[in-house]
Amino acid sequence: MALVNVDTLLQAAEEGGYAVGAFNCNNMEIVQAIIGAAEAEKSPVIIQASQGAIKYAGLNYIVSLVRTAAESASVPVALHLDHGTSFEQVIQCIGHGFTSVMIDWSKHELEENIKVTNQILQVARPLNISVEAELGKIGGTEDDVVVTDREASFTDPEEAAYFVQQTGIRSLAVAIGTAHGQYKGEPKLDFDRLTAIKEKVQIPIVLHGSSGVPDEALKEAIRRGVRKINIDTNLREAFTDGVREVLAEKPNEIDPRKILGPARDKMQERVVEKIRVFGSNGKA
Ligand code: G3H
Ligand code: 13P
Ligand code: ZN
Repeated sequence: MALVNVDTLLQAAEEGGYAVGAFNCNNMEIVQAIIGAAEAEKSPVIIQASQGAIKYAGLNYIVSLVRTAAESASVPVALHLDHGTSFEQVIQCIGHGFTSVMIDWSKHELEENIKVTNQILQVARPLNISVEAELGKIGGTEDDVVVTDREASFTDPEEAAYFVQQTGIRSLAVAIGTAHGQYKGEPKLDFDRLTAIKEKVQIPIVLHGSSGVPDEALKEAIRRGVRKINIDTNLREAFTDGVREVLAEKPNEIDPRKILGPARDKMQERVVEKIRVFGSNGKA
């Protein structure tokens, strides 16, 4: 089927009390793994591309790969721009067929974030393109920040209410203790803050940096209103596990298909596991 937008998927997730996985793609094998898992689990799915992915694969390749996958899929698929930090690139992605974009102006002042988010909404809304914004700073696991500093960058519930009121945004990424990349220890999520945000904004909440967050914590986050869960690092781990395993067993293997095929299988298994944790299986 044709690509759908993210708001449609998250509205159904809101009503059904589950979350939709948003998995990062960079190449054909990753796209196939994500779609294969979504089809096997009869789950809606979001495939997202970061600016780095677009730089690596090229915008046309990303759109063509995901469109081809979606057209022959029996489950709804959305194509989302992850962490758009360039106004021009966000517009370019919309022009090329993305059905959803994230405008990440979280590093800027609140009023500036509102202004730029509204500029994107003005373009996206009439075209039925979904827009995700971010409030608070999520950061990376490699960022060497002390806990009190990290907490200072968490999303403030009052500010979230103001942001949503000023923009009318329909999904919001929040900083509640997750970070991008591989965690050194177990991440501690600020669930009370999540509940306070959800009570104030009552729109689907997006959780970034979700690889490495224990399943129980993800389920608790869903109970408290998270509806889109971003996963990238887990797929990178599965991919490299697959490649390493083949090359350890057969160091002389030179056929890319025999190296990347098992990596694709491992990624698909990982996506299946996540879909089950998110509760989106059987929802397509
Ligand atoms: O949010 C970050 C995603 O993991 C994408 O990472 O910018 O290295 O593609 P990337
Ligand atoms: P992880 O790589 O930590 O799973 O984060 C993914 C993400 O948030 C993409 O926006
Ligand atoms: Zn992210």
